[in-house]
Amino acid sequence: MMRTNSSIFYFAIIFLLIFETRTQLSDESEFLVNRSETGLFHVPKDLSLKTTILDISQNYISELHTSDILSLSKLRILVVSHNRIQYLDISVFKFNQKLEYLDLSHNELGKISCHPTVNLKHLDLSFNAFDHLPVCKEFVNMSQLEFLGLSATRLQKSSVLLIAPLHINKVLLVLGDTYGEKEDPESLHNLNTESLHIVFPRRKEFSFTLDVSVSTAVSLELSNIKCVLDDNGCSYFQDVLSKLQKNSRLSNLTLNNIETTWNFFIMILQLVWHTSIEYFSISNVKLQGYPDLRYFDYSNTSLKALSIHHVVSDAFSLPQSYIYEILSNMNIQNFTVSDTHMVHMVCPSQISPFLYLDFSNNLLTDMVFKNCGNLVKLETLNLRMNQLKELVSIVNMTKKMKSLQQLDISQNSLSYDENEGNCSWTGSLLNLNMSSNILTESVFRCLPPKVRKLDLHNNKIQTVPKDVIHLKSLQELNLAFNFLTDLPGCSHFRKLSILNVEMNLILSPSLDFSQSCQEVKTLNARRNPFRCTCELRDFIRLEKYSEGMMIGWSDSYICEYPLNLKGTRLKDVHLPELSCNTALLIVTIVVIMLVLGMAVTFCCFYFEPPWYLRMLGQWTQTLQRIRKTSQEQLKRNVWFHVFISYSEHDSTWVKHELIPNLEKEEKLICLHEGHFDPGKSITENIMNLLEKSCKSIFVLSPNFVQSEWCHYELYFAHHSLFHENSDYVMFILLEPIPLYCIPTRYP
Ligand SMILES: *[C@@H]1O[C@H](CO)[C@@H](O)[C@H](O)[C@H]1NC(C)=O
Ligand SMILES: *[C@@H]1O[C@H](CO)[C@@H](O)[C@H](O)[C@H]1NC(C)=O
Ligand SMILES: *[C@@H]1O[C@H](CO)[C@@H](O)[C@H](O)[C@H]1NC(C)=O
Ligand SMILES: *[C@@H]1O[C@H](CO)[C@@H](O)[C@H](O)[C@H]1NC(C)=O
Ligand SMILES: *[C@@H]1O[C@H](CO)[C@@H](O)[C@H](O)[C@H]1NC(C)=O
Ligand SMILES: *[C@@H]1O[C@H](CO)[C@@H](O)[C@H](O)[C@H]1NC(C)=O
Ligand SMILES: *[C@@H]1O[C@H](CO)[C@@H](O)[C@H](O)[C@H]1NC(C)=O
Ligand SMILES: *[C@@H]1O[C@H](CO)[C@@H](O)[C@H](O)[C@H]1NC(C)=O
Repeated sequence: MMRTNSSIFYFAIIFLLIFETRTQLSDESEFLVNRSETGLFHVPKDLSLKTTILDISQNYISELHTSDILSLSKLRILVVSHNRIQYLDISVFKFNQKLEYLDLSHNELGKISCHPTVNLKHLDLSFNAFDHLPVCKEFVNMSQLEFLGLSATRLQKSSVLLIAPLHINKVLLVLGDTYGEKEDPESLHNLNTESLHIVFPRRKEFSFTLDVSVSTAVSLELSNIKCVLDDNGCSYFQDVLSKLQKNSRLSNLTLNNIETTWNFFIMILQLVWHTSIEYFSISNVKLQGYPDLRYFDYSNTSLKALSIHHVVSDAFSLPQSYIYEILSNMNIQNFTVSDTHMVHMVCPSQISPFLYLDFSNNLLTDMVFKNCGNLVKLETLNLRMNQLKELVSIVNMTKKMKSLQQLDISQNSLSYDENEGNCSWTGSLLNLNMSSNILTESVFRCLPPKVRKLDLHNNKIQTVPKDVIHLKSLQELNLAFNFLTDLPGCSHFRKLSILNVEMNLILSPSLDFSQSCQEVKTLNARRNPFRCTCELRDFIRLEKYSEGMMIGWSDSYICEYPLNLKGTRLKDVHLPELSCNTALLIVTIVVIMLVLGMAVTFCCFYFEPPWYLRMLGQWTQTLQRIRKTSQEQLKRNVWFHVFISYSEHDSTWVKHELIPNLEKEEKLICLHEGHFDPGKSITENIMNLLEKSCKSIFVLSPNFVQSEWCHYELYFAHHSLFHENSDYVMFILLEPIPLYCIPTRYP
């Protein structure tokens, strides 16, 4: 169980819960009231009845009363740590039936009285002023108890017995400053817990005889071990550790805040080496003196992982090689030495079982593991935050690490000089983190061929060169916080699916990316100084066509140039196709011209506008004239019975066939040639005659159709310009007229 790992994790979950449920606004939502660090002297009275989580930590509250929280029937979590409460009656919570998490740590509690009905999962009474263990017989009914935090200056078997029937996940036991006077070494005998954390008194030399091995704990954590005066090699603590050898259940040991000598530190390692412990972690160590050169017995260990974190030593010159030898020859799988001032690490003297090495945050130089052929099993190496300078040395270092898959050399001062030598990484490397160095684009000529995940963020890369080696497996490339002016193309990394170019100097990404990076599923190009001109349209379109591809779209994609668009989101920029695409613009103009030209030509051929225009002119003239003479006058002016319109070519037929037949009945026939007034225009004459005739006869033939004057005559007649009755016009079809000959203006 991970319950050992403090309440931060727990709070994180709660926080998530709150966030989620609050946004959901469901009936069962958590209701958080956080009055932490608000200078309270009393529990606030104005709390909502809906409150499920109440944090009133870091205040000056000295008393808790039933009335304070009586109405909060939904209260589930109550945090009152870091206050000044001196006395607690657990019955104040008797009306808070839902209460399951109660944190009263870091108060001044000296006494509690118990109440049977409260059933908590988490009860923290640690870091208080209790003399005896604050345990009462009612605790036995807290069957759900998972965490119990206690503090005392005196441990008694009888108190521990009261909670012995419970199966608690984790017990935190804080021993007060005066602990140890009348110590009962066996007092933890019946403690039934998975995980036990004992905090010894601070600033006190370790002189306790408490047997921590007697509990059922699988995981043990001991804090505050000070052991500097004891010339016998810290015999008390040595005793405690020796007893651990008898307990074969124990698998995890954590030591915290140790102040001791180099010799005893190595002795601690040696003692733990021969226990059943598999995971050993030491943090916050302060060391004095010098180690004596002694043999270290690595045999018969159960240890799988050792982690040493944050060590300071007051010695100026140490027998470094001795220490490095002890460390490098450890026969374990996982080894962490972080945040120490370690400047070097030697190669193990024989094939090492190390699978995972974490030497982050030290002072290691390029000499680390130089020419080391004994780390052939190593899969993960972390050299983050050291003093590495030349990439070539690191490449050389990996050469013989045949299994190395992950290498983290971020946060160093690495640079790569192409002239320094060959760049042949170990072929097995899959995951390389070179972020936060001073690498330039030359690094692209020095990459492991099979790498899948490459982190180069925060370097000095200006471009991704075109002549880089092919990285066939590269899937994830991080180039954020560099000086790129363009998106890289993927012609050399065909499988790239995640690309990060956040915070570079990309103004307008070129087409190369969208053309060659088909496989990219996720692109992070946030916070670049985009120039929102036509060149950017392809980039904006990229998001449109592959929705969700760009991380942080659209709020983090802002125009920087031109100035009138500064601050506008790319999403909101409108760049019309026409103004951006020169070819399209030209094509459009040409097309429009063509269409116009064609339309004009078409009209000329099809509608014969000149004819219409002339006709319109005549018509208006005539209309003006007509307006002058009234309808009465018109009637009086009727001179002829029939007006015959025909083509000159048909005149023979008209004169010899039509007229003789007509004149049998009608005396007054008008033929244009005989009655035209030479002083007037032809159209005027036509209108005149039409107007003076009762009926019009049109002799239709192909010839007629081709005669312009006939058209006018027909047009005027058809539009009944001068006559209202519809039988005014008569047609005689002299010869059939082929359809194609008939002008469209013919009604
Ligand atoms: C209340 O706020 C403080 C900081 O103001 C925070 O540390 C704490 O985690 C919050 N409590 C809860 C229950 O979220
Ligand atoms: C525990 O609960 C049981 C049943 O609810 C009750 O009989 C018993 O008295 C309780 N024990 C204590 C010590 O309160
Ligand atoms: C022991 O430590 C390891 C590594 O930190 C962890 O995975 C494991 O859960 C721990 N076991 C217990 C019982 O706490
Ligand atoms: C290691 O174990 C073997 C047998 O399991 C035993 O003979 C040997 O004495 C042990 N060595 C130590 C140093 O405990
Ligand atoms: C060693 O560490 C790696 C990475 O943290 C982890 O995956 C692995 O389980 C660890 N192995 C052991 C034996 O603790
Ligand atoms: C890399 O290693 C080879 C031998 O394996 C050596 O000759 C060369 O000098 C080394 N280069 C650097 C920069 O350490
Ligand atoms: C590389 O290391 C940095 C810290 O130096 C870390 O923030 C980043 O997540 C690492 N990258 C990968 C891909 O793990
Ligand atoms: C560089 O590498 C090539 C091919 O891997 C090899 O032939 C050549 O000898 C190497 N040169 C040096 C100086 O290591």
